[in-house]
Amino acid sequence: MINIEKDYPLDRLNTFGMSVKAPWFSVLRQKEDCTVLASAAPESKSLLILGGGSNMLFTRQPDQWVIKNEVKGIELIREDATHVWLSVGAGEVWHEFVLYCISRQYCGIENLALIPGTVGAAPIQNIGAYGVEVKQLIDRVHFWDIENGSFAYLDNEDCRFGYRDSIFKQTLKGKYIITAVEWKLSKTPALNTSYGNIKEELEKMGIENPGIKDVADAVIAIRSAKLPDPKVVGNAGSFFKNPEVDNEIYAAIKANYAEAPGYKAGADKTKIPAAWLIEQCNWKGFRQGDAGVHPKQPLVLVNYGNASGSEIFLLSTQIIESVNKKFGITLEREVQII
Ligand code: FAD
Ligand code: EPU
Repeated sequence: MINIEKDYPLDRLNTFGMSVKAPWFSVLRQKEDCTVLASAAPESKSLLILGGGSNMLFTRQPDQWVIKNEVKGIELIREDATHVWLSVGAGEVWHEFVLYCISRQYCGIENLALIPGTVGAAPIQNIGAYGVEVKQLIDRVHFWDIENGSFAYLDNEDCRFGYRDSIFKQTLKGKYIITAVEWKLSKTPALNTSYGNIKEELEKMGIENPGIKDVADAVIAIRSAKLPDPKVVGNAGSFFKNPEVDNEIYAAIKANYAEAPGYKAGADKTKIPAAWLIEQCNWKGFRQGDAGVHPKQPLVLVNYGNASGSEIFLLSTQIIESVNKKFGITLEREVQII
């Protein structure tokens, strides 16, 4: 049963806090309702699927039928001596799912604690943090194929996962509604504490033999100290991706900036933190009206109150231009622009 509301305010449904209205708005509570979408469609048939609204920037009033995915449910579908397979509704809140796994000692997902958003959005940009990406844990992605009007799925190897990328952002863009994601998680911990300052944080917490909950707590502490809480200041996390450049380009930058950070990304490429590039261009802490660059993490653009989506977008364009001018590197936006 699909109920359609008109002129529905989305202010609280996007973490940038943009004040926009959906011309038509519905909540999808069960995957079976996908089958009636085509016949129930109002004037516009094009759909905008909304999860937690934590990776999108509205630069205009949407003209699509906005469907908020609230398909819930966590089901243990299989287990063997070493692993469990879980099918999870796309509308489950990501962090709650992480906590669910930790409480049952399902391992591998703990470094991804506190990422905002829904389970269904996780495969779209292959969410990642602290040395783990969901491509390492996803078994299968189930979706409604809008064009064909049928349910379908893709196995992990067909999702073309990359750094903040997948087939869902590329050739399938706009053509699907993810309804559930199947996860394969280990019953035995294999802690990954090498990234960033997880080890230091565990020491600070006085933990010598950490378990998966300790690692999640350390990640939560680091994230809370660094990233702005969208409930306090509007933002969508990293606005740009970290660029992967040819090793020679990185070497040329190093020649002028000995301290320039970089991480190997395959044999020929180096990943340079965009936060560093943006800081070098003096944007850190910049504010114009209510649009700004976060003072602790310049990769995060913020809405201090009443910035419009176009003001944030314009700021992102200015940043791209200045980084390009200084370093010859073109930053790519991570956030989905509507
Ligand atoms: P939304 O913003 O609602 O949607 C994102 C895109 O996916 C849109 O194009 C939307 O149309 C589409 N979409 C969403 N759900 C579905 C569905 N079921 N079917 C089809 N299309 C769908 N990301 C990281 O990878 N790592 C981080 O560490 C991280 N940290 C963050 C920290 C903060 C403070 C914030 C605000 C964001 C952060 N993000 C991070 C970004 C964001 O949390 C993720 O991209 C998350 O997966 C978005 O989920 P969502 O449900 O909010 O998606
Ligand atoms: N840095 C600076 N100045 C700063 C902050 C950072 O120069 O003010 C440099 C430092 O060299 C630092 C490096 O940037 O070592 C990396 O910073 P950080 O560890 O905060 O990570 P990030 O590269 O900025 C990425 C992801 C985050 C993810 C963290 C942790 C992208 C685009 N962003 O950020 O994901 O949480 O690593 O793994 O890959 C998101 O995608 O929305 C997101 C928040």
